[in-house]
Amino acid sequence: MSKTPLPQEQFTLPEIEFLKKIKRSKLFEVILGFFLVTFFTLCCFFYLDYSRGLRIFHRSERFSWLLLSGSVSNHQRSDFLEQECDVFDGQWVWDETYPLYNSTDCKLLDDGFRCNENGRPDDFYTKWRWQPKDCNLPRFDAKTMLEKLRNRRVVFIGDSIGRNQWESLLCLLSSVVPNKESIYEVNGNPITKHKGFLVFKFQDYNCTVEYYRAPFLVLQTRPPPGTPQNIKTTLKLDQMDWTSTKWNDADVLVFNTGHWWNYEKTIRGGCYFQEGSEVKTNMSIESAYQRAIETVVNWVINDVNARKTQVFFRTYAPVHFRGGSWRTGGSCHLETLPELGSSLVPSQNWAQYNIVNDVLSSSSNKSVEMKLYLLNVTHMTSQRKDGHSSLYYLGPNAGLAPLHRQDCSHWCLPGVPDAWNELLYALFLKHESSSPMA
Ligand SMILES: *[C@@H]1O[C@H](CO)[C@@H](O)[C@H](O)[C@H]1NC(C)=O
Ligand SMILES: *[C@@H]1O[C@H](CO)[C@@H](O)[C@H](O)[C@H]1NC(C)=O
Ligand SMILES: *[C@@H]1O[C@H](CO)[C@@H](O)[C@H](O)[C@H]1NC(C)=O
Ligand SMILES: *[C@@H]1O[C@H](CO)[C@@H](O)[C@H](O)[C@H]1NC(C)=O
Ligand SMILES: *[C@@H]1O[C@H](CO)[C@@H](O)[C@H](O)[C@H]1NC(C)=O
Repeated sequence: MSKTPLPQEQFTLPEIEFLKKIKRSKLFEVILGFFLVTFFTLCCFFYLDYSRGLRIFHRSERFSWLLLSGSVSNHQRSDFLEQECDVFDGQWVWDETYPLYNSTDCKLLDDGFRCNENGRPDDFYTKWRWQPKDCNLPRFDAKTMLEKLRNRRVVFIGDSIGRNQWESLLCLLSSVVPNKESIYEVNGNPITKHKGFLVFKFQDYNCTVEYYRAPFLVLQTRPPPGTPQNIKTTLKLDQMDWTSTKWNDADVLVFNTGHWWNYEKTIRGGCYFQEGSEVKTNMSIESAYQRAIETVVNWVINDVNARKTQVFFRTYAPVHFRGGSWRTGGSCHLETLPELGSSLVPSQNWAQYNIVNDVLSSSSNKSVEMKLYLLNVTHMTSQRKDGHSSLYYLGPNAGLAPLHRQDCSHWCLPGVPDAWNELLYALFLKHESSSPMA
């Protein structure tokens, strides 16, 4: 009899101990929590005081800072690699651990993107990390990416903003390669001011990271015989760029097109649109752009081997010429902060984005969803008026560009395109882990 309660006691005793521990730890948590809240509040005020000294934050931005610094809510976010989540819906948060590389450590970078070396005094624009609303991105790990890319090819096809992103990826990846000599252009071409294509090989990984300049993605060629003199070239809206045979079987393709679809870069220079054998002299640039996007999408559906090739299409990266265009004194110089929460990008900037969206959603073809990832960067990028090269693109020894020649379309590196590549990295890893081929 007397022995039977013993097991119970043995159970209850630790339980009571356990409850006590919980109570103690709760008290401990309350104290710790109070301490942390106080600490963070103090930090914020210190920071704000400091920034007020620099006069960089407006009143409303100060409050958004307080909201943004909520590291508490981080705990509730899932890991993107574990759960579905819209990574393009989110906000820029200040992160002292950024940038992920220094331009002085990266040989593989045009002078034009080396803003700090070219005299840009602030480095705030390198310190913003993209934080999706409902999940956390994996931190970019160049070693992991290079391992995954072993014996494989990554190809960027598009305009100079695509080149901007390509060089960002070169710098991100090369930052973990100790022997910089082991990374080289396979044809010995220098990276600077090169037209055509460039293929950089990471020897230790037998992997290449390539760029093909094809600002329209579709084929630009001589006009058919018998066309009027004023038509110097045509864009064949129903054919892919001639370089496509060089990259159609690569492992990762990253397309972009946008900044060349305007009057100056087409009709004014005698470049007209063509479908089949017909030159469409009065086709609008928007319709032409739409036709070109349809061609790319159809090419992806019909010609890409989805078991080998991952295809990304990066959406339009907005420009930030305030108060004019690049020809009429538009300006982004001295912008040092993002436009948190809103964007003042003029609505015509969204036209191309909308066309891509329309083409993709109207191609009621399930296979396109499976085969084409949208790098939907337009919204996030529209907030980054602070990230452009502005006057700092002429090279370290050439001084600043004149005020009326500001570059508010290209991006400083390190900078905004790194965030696009972090998203590319996340989607790439996710695809790898879900693909039976991996
Ligand atoms: C792109 O991202 C924005 C911002 O989150 C969102 O509003 C839009 O619907 C997205 N577009 C597509 C096609 O996913
Ligand atoms: C960049 O350089 C700074 C010092 O100039 C250094 O503190 C920082 O760690 C470097 N960052 C990287 C990613 O190498
Ligand atoms: C190197 O990578 C290429 C693909 O990019 C592949 O065809 C080739 O077989 C690889 N070489 C070796 C030695 O694995
Ligand atoms: C374009 O030109 C053709 C004749 O070449 C004409 O029939 C058509 O209405 C024109 N379209 C527009 C939008 O002007
Ligand atoms: C859907 O994709 C198939 C190829 O997979 C293609 O033959 C077909 O024309 C497409 N349909 C539409 C409506 O785009």
